[in-house]
Amino acid sequence: MNLPVFDDGAPLLRASGVTRYYGTRIGCTDVSFELWPGEVLAVVGESGSGKTTLLNCLSTRLVPTSGVVEYRMRDGAMRDLFQLNEAERRLLMRTDWGFVHQNPADGLRMTVSAGANVGERLMAVGARNYGAIRGEAESWLDKVEIDTGRIDDDPRGFSGGMRQRLQIARNLVTGPRLIFMDEPTGGLDVSVQARLLDLLRQLVGEFGLSAVVVTHDLAVARLLSHRMIVMRGGNVIETGLTDQVLDDPRAPYTQLLVSSILQV
Ligand SMILES: Nc1ncnc2c1ncn2[C@@H]1O[C@H](COP(=O)(O)OP(=O)(O)O)[C@@H](O)[C@H]1O
Ligand SMILES: [Mg+2]
Repeated sequence: MNLPVFDDGAPLLRASGVTRYYGTRIGCTDVSFELWPGEVLAVVGESGSGKTTLLNCLSTRLVPTSGVVEYRMRDGAMRDLFQLNEAERRLLMRTDWGFVHQNPADGLRMTVSAGANVGERLMAVGARNYGAIRGEAESWLDKVEIDTGRIDDDPRGFSGGMRQRLQIARNLVTGPRLIFMDEPTGGLDVSVQARLLDLLRQLVGEFGLSAVVVTHDLAVARLLSHRMIVMRGGNVIETGLTDQVLDDPRAPYTQLLVSSILQV
């Protein structure tokens, strides 16, 4: 991907020595990086390498055992996420951030309509006008290629790909600056994955979003990310520009990962 011009000289998110243990078991250890405005970072590695643990620590869904995660608030101040009070943290999650789960059912309300799934995020940030909310929901369904005639249907009747696109609309409608994604294409058929990736790539570019994308699929990293982190056993093995890491991997483990996908 081409890097957009960054709005100023400061990172949006900074992880310093992020470590998480589950009892004595390692989740992830000593992960440090900076994420810049408009940048997409992929976290790759085999199952159990610590990707989800890291993502959950970054997004405050999990408290790190040690280390610091800082985020640049809309006022420009860099804040330690684990020093925010509950109201500040909830506001961030509702407005500035999105979280796309691998399983759309974890990120959607399955028993309310598609329109309400998108609209209620708007209401959570203060929108009150019914017509405007419905109009915005319709426009987002359209953006994610869901027939607006389905606006009153609930997602139980949607295919996996449609559900995932609805989850994306629900997350993007409030204009977040940062979106966390855990295996966003993981549960989908290959042909559906390709379309979803195209759509994600387009939306991320159009809105200049920053994102942290966890994936075990190097093709996803290649298509979506500017930079990547390779993890194994909870440790960062290699980091760099995505094209460089994939075309010229340094660490033997990354070489193995790259060559094993080429054989597929
Ligand atoms: N809730 C948990 N309790 C105990 N161990 C866990 C828990 N979640 C993850 N782990 C362990 O932490 C390590 C990293 O897991 P995870 O972050 O889920 O990796 P990935 O997302 O790369 O598959 C694994 O060894 C896993 O078994
Ligand atoms: Mg995982």
